[in-house]
Amino acid sequence: MAGVKPTMTVDLAGVAFPLPVLAASGCLGTGGEPTVVDLRRLGGVVTRSLTLEPRRGAPTPRMAETPSGLLSWTGLQNPGVEGFLVEDLPRLEQAGVPVVASIAGGGVEEFLRVTSLLQHRPGIVALEVYLGAPDEERGRGRPFAARLDRAVEVVGAVARMSRLPVFAKLPYLEPDLVETARACVRAGAHGLTLIGGVPGLAVDAERLRPELAAPIGLLSGPAIKPIALAAVHRVARELPEVPIMGVGGIATGRDAVEFLLAGAWAVQVGTAMLIDPAAPVEIARGILAYLKDKQLESPAALRGRLRVPGTSP
Ligand SMILES: Cc1cc2nc3c(=O)[nH]c(=O)nc-3n(C[C@H](O)[C@H](O)[C@H](O)COP(=O)(O)O)c2cc1C
Repeated sequence: MAGVKPTMTVDLAGVAFPLPVLAASGCLGTGGEPTVVDLRRLGGVVTRSLTLEPRRGAPTPRMAETPSGLLSWTGLQNPGVEGFLVEDLPRLEQAGVPVVASIAGGGVEEFLRVTSLLQHRPGIVALEVYLGAPDEERGRGRPFAARLDRAVEVVGAVARMSRLPVFAKLPYLEPDLVETARACVRAGAHGLTLIGGVPGLAVDAERLRPELAAPIGLLSGPAIKPIALAAVHRVARELPEVPIMGVGGIATGRDAVEFLLAGAWAVQVGTAMLIDPAAPVEIARGILAYLKDKQLESPAALRGRLRVPGTSP
């Protein structure tokens, strides 16, 4: 059979990403610092979550290694929108890599002000609303995503203001993930990013202390891959027309293919980039090899092709 030449471009909410593999928020910094990865070989870069003013972030230690995972809480450390626009965005724009700006805030007003400052910059192709951010206004520091009304309020307000497609980034929520995802879409989200880190605690039994100052952090890396896959599968089955970025524990091309089969339209890579900044490039290569092997024309041809024989919990 003549070899199929797959195209790797994916279209999510009207945005064409040249490759289906993006750098996840927080794992390539805001993009301005020198990196060893050639940005043009990424499908896109999601910035670290940006707040109106610079934030110094959480006290240290902020990271601990756990079996097959990384536990971290950076406390939204970021240079603030102005700092990002001056220091970081120009280099991303120069590289020509599509930039998804991750936005955060302690309350709805801050999300809106961040949106208004970012949405007219030419290099920025979409916004990602970080609903794992602590709700300082009404939630006593619990994430916006933990309350459906607050998640909807933030996403709705941003989507009404934004001229760019808006992705709502959710953590895994039990039992209301699908309901929250649906409500975010009804409120105006054009797509979803699934998932943020999973809450976890690491204990130093010698020093009788938590390993992180926070002390609860967010677990990422291979340990959370099955959880993220379940999230993508569940939401994609219910909302097949909504573009989903799958994220959580992706380290190889095969991992990424699993997410596409489960229903993701594209994937993001986080923790794996902390080990090898060029991981997304290899992952994209792995997807391409899989498509060629199966004689498929694009990543979209894999979407949701998982055969599901029975019902699941
Ligand atoms: C050090 C670090 C910083 C992160 N910062 C952010 C952030 O600012 N905003 C955000 O939405 N997610 C942030 N994340 C979460 C990642 O974007 C991603 O959702 C999560 O790590 C799961 O993917 P992974 O297993 O590939 O790392 C961060 C993750 C890590 C490890």
